[in-house]
Amino acid sequence: MTPSPPAPLPVAVLVSGGGTNLQALLDALEGSPLARVARVVSSRADAGALERARRAGVPTAVLADSADGGEIVAAVEGARLVVLAGYLKRVPPDAVARLRWRVINIHPALLPAFGGPGMYGRRVHQAVLASGAAVSGATVHYVDEEFDRGPIIAQWPVPVRPDDTAESLAARVLAVEHRLVPQVVLALARRGVPAQPVRLHATGSTFVMGDRIAIELE
Ligand code: GRF
Repeated sequence: MTPSPPAPLPVAVLVSGGGTNLQALLDALEGSPLARVARVVSSRADAGALERARRAGVPTAVLADSADGGEIVAAVEGARLVVLAGYLKRVPPDAVARLRWRVINIHPALLPAFGGPGMYGRRVHQAVLASGAAVSGATVHYVDEEFDRGPIIAQWPVPVRPDDTAESLAARVLAVEHRLVPQVVLALARRGVPAQPVRLHATGSTFVMGDRIAIELE
């Protein structure tokens, strides 16, 4: 008798905001045999991301105390992988320790630059423009005890344009985030979410012409 295929890997998503990265993940994993969004956990009851989860029929929870590591571990119970998608709170060290190498975060810049406490949203892109950097991008990394410091899993570049504002740069980086997060989740699911850090590399040219963004990782 042919063995039945393994169930899609359950993924929990932690959110604080509108949830466009969550939406990109929900859309990319729809019908996937590899992974599924099993739960959405928010640090705020009014996060727009919760409405996206409900529309997709995914169970949701709102943290009473995001500084309580035990509450977070309980909230993601059953998930093999935890994705921070626009989650603005620091994950408590005890939760990080219990979920080591199973929690990843998306950051809208090329870490280790332009990361750390307070570096989120518009501020990140303003800092990139102020630095004169010619390239920005998105980073998916493991979460450790500090903001934006865990080992990098994958990055994708976004050229900075001379007429860029923080908003126009943020929009192009967000478009890359929406492709990078699902690619990394699928790559980790294919590998069974190893208990040691994975580094993914871009295949082919990473710069794109026009608006076709084709992220391929190995
Ligand atoms: C994204 O740029 C993400 O990298 C950052 O917060 C922004 C909003 O994310 N952490 P979302 O629309 O809530 O997914």
